[in-house]
Amino acid sequence: MIEVLGMISDTELLKNAHLAFENAYAPYSKFEVGACALFESGKCYSGCNVENASFGLSLCAERNAISNAIAAGEKTKLVKIAIVSKQTAFCFPCGACRQWFSEFCSPDFQVIVEDENKNPVLYSMKEILPNSFKL
Ligand code: THU
Repeated sequence: MIEVLGMISDTELLKNAHLAFENAYAPYSKFEVGACALFESGKCYSGCNVENASFGLSLCAERNAISNAIAAGEKTKLVKIAIVSKQTAFCFPCGACRQWFSEFCSPDFQVIVEDENKNPVLYSMKEILPNSFKL
């Protein structure tokens, strides 16, 4: 967990996500993903993907980052998540992760991915998961 006083930029969030994919455990897909989740508290939490020989049990970087936040006692809303892959630009989140975002996110939540020039590109929750399921 990285504690931040004041606002962290989108570029810095992407940088943290880059650091996170260095720890990815992806021997099967060889697709390494890093994520960094920023909460309203100003704290951010990183995660990488963790694969398993039983492929379906693999954990995505985004859900790892959010789990780290919850396990650390984070109680505020998720405001941004930066997602990067070592192998490709525009690493979009899978459907399961999008549903996880909807569980914890603030109304103005944004997903940050990276373009080919390593610049941040932002998407709203409405673009990422319209009409998301909620109880
Ligand atoms: N992966 C993520 O970490 N996040 C996503 O949103 C999409 C997929 C991981 C899971 C698996 O380890 C690898 O990428 C290939 O699917």
